[in-house]
Amino acid sequence: MILPGLVDIHVHLRTPGGEHKEDFRTGSAAALAGGFTMLLAMPNTQPPLVTLESWHSAQTRAQNESLCDVFLYAGASAEKLNELPALANEAPALKIYMDQTYGPLRVRGLENLIRIFASWPASKPICVHAEGESVALALGLAATYNKHLHVCHVARKSEIELIAKAKAGGLPVTCEVTPHHLFLTQADAARLGPYGDMRPTLGTPEDQQALWQHLITTIDCIASDHAPHTRDEKELIDGSPPGVPGLESTLPLMLTAAAQGRITYARLVELLYTNPRRIFNLPEQADTFIEVDPLAKYTFPEHPLYTKCAWSPFSGMPMTGKVQRVVLRGQEVVRDGLVLNFR
Ligand code: NCD
Ligand code: ZN
Ligand code: ZN
Ligand code: ZN
Repeated sequence: MILPGLVDIHVHLRTPGGEHKEDFRTGSAAALAGGFTMLLAMPNTQPPLVTLESWHSAQTRAQNESLCDVFLYAGASAEKLNELPALANEAPALKIYMDQTYGPLRVRGLENLIRIFASWPASKPICVHAEGESVALALGLAATYNKHLHVCHVARKSEIELIAKAKAGGLPVTCEVTPHHLFLTQADAARLGPYGDMRPTLGTPEDQQALWQHLITTIDCIASDHAPHTRDEKELIDGSPPGVPGLESTLPLMLTAAAQGRITYARLVELLYTNPRRIFNLPEQADTFIEVDPLAKYTFPEHPLYTKCAWSPFSGMPMTGKVQRVVLRGQEVVRDGLVLNFR
């Protein structure tokens, strides 16, 4: 089966400052092996990408060191509000961390949020890490300032139902869900310990069911939230960081759901290609496609091949559907599931 080169709009490639977890080369190799030819990478790096200078130097490195196309989000920081107009000219979208997650990047206080929403252009999405009541706050700000809001990794029934209502009322809002919130619940969190810990945390079976129900209506994109941390970091008794890798498991999981009839292949292409490209106004990649074997049955490996962290919360899960080949701008970059010229 031939599909377009897929787009993952939510990944953490950890450059600069976290290269022991992942870098542009390993992260983009994991992307290609997982069927993604274009990535949008998050700004919660060290330093965070909240100034034009830090954003520019990271974007230049991304261009030079990645095996697929990588675009970087601009990060919002209350201390660097003056940078927003310049960042708005360059980055495809803005990211605001409204709640506590990995790293220090977080915007608190209504006055700061108001300034950020007021100064970002209406033509480019404002993406938010927003949980619970923060979703309502973000929707209110988007409505008030008439800005395009994109809610990252929606994980709760109450949140997706609120977003559905906002959409029905005509608000310019889009959203994404992750495979871990679709395929895992609190029961898996108990089994996986730190390897099943991420923000937002895994939900109840009711949350999970609500996400599946809204997958054909409310939800615009599936994104991995690929957030690698080393095993050593995950084993820390105090301060184990939240986040799980996902670039190599996202498409296999979704192909498995399609093989089981839980979603159509056409809808998968909308969620992983058409909608991401439209929402973020991303360029076309000529002569680019992926080849998958939709019926290949196997067990997801203990060690995914390309992410530096080399573990996965999905290890041991039965999968149906495998990436065989990837062609990027006319060049074969994955053959028999292996990234060519990687080592
Ligand atoms: C992400 C990370 O590790 O950068 N962690 C996570 O649990 N999702 C941050 C984020 O996406 O919120
Ligand atoms: Zn987040
Ligand atoms: Zn993330
Ligand atoms: Zn092992």
